This record gives sequence, C-alpha cells and structure tokens, in this order.
Amino acid sequence: MTFSTARSAAAHQEAKAFFPGGVNSPVRAFKAVGGAPLFIAKGEGAWLTDEDGNRLVDYVLSWGPLLAGHAHPSIVKAITETAALGTSFGAPTTREAQLAIRVQRVFPSMKKLRFVSSGTEATAAALRVARGFTGRERVVKFEGCYHGAQDALLVRAGSGVETLGLPDSPGVPKALAALTTVLPFNDIPALRAFFRSEQGRETACAIIEPVVGNMGLLNPKQGFLEALREETKAAGALLIFDEVMTGFRVARGGVQEKFGIEPDLTCLGKVIGGGLPVGAYGGRADAMGQVAPDGPIYQAGTLSGNPLAMAAGIAMLDLVLTPGFIEGIERSTADLCARLAEVCAKAKVPAQVNQAGSMFTVFFTGEQVFDYASAKTSDTERFKRVHRALLERGVYLPPSQFESAFMSSTHGKAELDHTVQAFSEALRVG
Ligand SMILES: Cc1ncc(COP(=O)(O)O)c(C=O)c1O
Repeated sequence: MTFSTARSAAAHQEAKAFFPGGVNSPVRAFKAVGGAPLFIAKGEGAWLTDEDGNRLVDYVLSWGPLLAGHAHPSIVKAITETAALGTSFGAPTTREAQLAIRVQRVFPSMKKLRFVSSGTEATAAALRVARGFTGRERVVKFEGCYHGAQDALLVRAGSGVETLGLPDSPGVPKALAALTTVLPFNDIPALRAFFRSEQGRETACAIIEPVVGNMGLLNPKQGFLEALREETKAAGALLIFDEVMTGFRVARGGVQEKFGIEPDLTCLGKVIGGGLPVGAYGGRADAMGQVAPDGPIYQAGTLSGNPLAMAAGIAMLDLVLTPGFIEGIERSTADLCARLAEVCAKAKVPAQVNQAGSMFTVFFTGEQVFDYASAKTSDTERFKRVHRALLERGVYLPPSQFESAFMSSTHGKAELDHTVQAFSEALRVG
C-alpha cells in the first residue's frame, strides 16, 4: 500500500480551528520534522493504524506508558470491568492501596506516596513538599531535563544565565524562575561547587531525570548520581528522582534500582497508569508525613486515584511483576540498538545509539552524547529526512531528534526486522 497522508492532513486542518497548532500537546504537531502529524485511528500491540490506513511500528507508545503495547487484553478488561461499576467517586476505593502495594514492591524508597493524574502534577507536588519540609525556596534542575510544563521548572538552560534562572516561556514569572538554578548534566565539579556555595546551602531540593529521556536518551557518567546524592545530603537539600519516564523502563525499579541510589522523593507517571492518566509522588516518611491532612503542605485532586486509572495501573504492574517481562523487552531493545548501529556504520552515517533498558535514541552525530551540548551536535536535518522516510516505510519514531524512543513486550522479531530494513533504506534516501 502506498503511503498517503490526505486524511491526516484534512483532520489536522480541522483541528487547527480549535487547538493551538491543531494539537493538545505541542510535540505532537511534528514541528521538528515538518509535515502534518499522523492522526491515529487505532493501536494493536506494537502497531498503529492512522486515518489513511497506513500501518506503522510504534516507537512512541504514547510517550512511554505502553510497556505492553496497545490495547493489551488484560488492561482493556480491567478498564471495561471497572467502568461498568462507576468511573469516579471522589471517595476512596480499595484499588488505590492495591496499586500502591505494587508500586512499593518495585520502588521501596517510596515509604509513603500519593497518586495524582499526571507527571506534571507529581513533580509540582514533590517540589512543594521539598520546599515545605526544608523551609527553603531555591530548587536545582539540570540542563535539558524536562519535568512537565510547570512554572518553576520551565527554566532556560543557557550557560551565561544559569544562576539567574531565566524563564523558558512567557508567562513564567521572573521572580519564580529566579528561584531555580540550572546546572549542567554530568558535570560533577559544577554540582559540587554549587552545593558547597551559600546558595547551595539554602537549596530545598535538586530534581533530576537520573537517566535523561528529554534530550534524547542520555546516561549519567560514572559517579555523577553518587556525587549528587552526597552533595544534596551534605547541603540539607532533598534529592528528587523524576522517574516519570525511567520508572519500569531503566530497569524494573528505575534508575534508583539500577544504580543503587536512594532519593528522598520519587516522581512516577506514564507506566503506572497503563495508558490512563496517573502520576505519583512519594518517598521519605518524614517528608510525606507533612502532606495534608497529616501535615500542613496542601495538595489535592478531584480525579486523583480514580478507579479506571487504578485498575489499568494494577493490570499493567501485574505484567511488570511477571518474571522475565521487563528483561525480555530490555533484550529486544539491546538487539535492535546493536542492529541500528550496524546499519549506520555500514552506510557510513555518523551516529551514536544511546540505550538504557527499553529506551533508546539514535543521534546523528560522530560525538559521544552525554549532555545538552553534545546532543546538540546532532544533524537534525538528517533526522528530519530519515524520520519522513521511516514513516513512508511504516516506522513511527518520535518526531524529534531530542526525544527517546520506547519499546514494548509486543515488539517481536517481525517488528524488529521490519524496522531494521526500513532504517537501512531510510539512510540511503535520507
Ligand atoms: C521525566 C518527565 N517528567 C515529567 C513529565 C510530565 O508528565 P505529564 O506529561 O504526564 O504531565 C514528563 C513527560 O513527558 C517526563 O518525561
């Protein structure tokens, strides 16, 4: 079947009358790669079908949540059975503790936690807890890390203005951005210098994607996370691991399990909702003990812990807890990454394939990629051409060089073979 986007283009045109850019979240608009975004009609396992009837192997997976692929039978069953009993009560149900038990088995550092409805809500609440608990206002984030579209963390990572903290978006008050310090990722001397300074000793918390997914996939250098743990502790600041993306993907228990580092607070999202809107934040019992109604730090949500999202999350985590489930996905990801690196080498296209667990990025650069500056050496024009050529060949990669790709348990040999063949053709035309 030939690749056509006529129906998607028409749907995008219609949507533009309603939504900025015709979308309800900016990256979906395909601005970084050009062309109209594909409008999706359905998903089954690893495959998407768009409105024009094109079938594509999906490496976006709703930006991470779908570890078991689209429309997994046990998750669909859990959602439909629960919906028949009522969709939301604004009162507790027993499902909340059932999901919490499963989360805690994988993330034992979350001694107490709370469910919210998105990753952004989770990071915003974690910041408030850190500030309320320490009585301090300054927060530290790392260059290129994304923690949701909330004011305090939408701060530019420009080198000359790091300590001032300039807002990345109009609408973020300068006074609030000025309370955010941005440090470079993977730079141990910079973080030691900061936390030993006067400002460092007045800092409430450092929040980090401990393996980064939002500059493309970047791994921490040896000793970086350990140094961050050490320095935050010495400065009396809380360490927040934002594992919204890495939870259940960089090892089952996230980066904290893989590197054996215990943060004070953790944020989760994506996978724990099995494709429905859920986030969670939690950690040390003393800090979480300050959250209302046990303590004075206020946080609340009408749909928090709602039955459908809890049921989907429980079904998802039952899969995650099945022995071999995560390991299988990690093996396929490593296999795919090795094959993609080989294809690039054969085609003499400079590329770095970064991988952690079931996340990966092919950067079109000859440099090692380990921070914002090295990620930016990528040839984004080549990425655009390759992305388009892959779409035409039935492979749906994230529509930006600076986003991680995701794998699921439903990406089998047929899907991987199809992808490698398409990739090698795409490099020839792109
Ligand atoms: C690391 C990280 N934190 C937080 C968020 C925000 O999550 P949500 O989009 O569910 O609000 C994201 C979203 O991609 C993320 O990747």
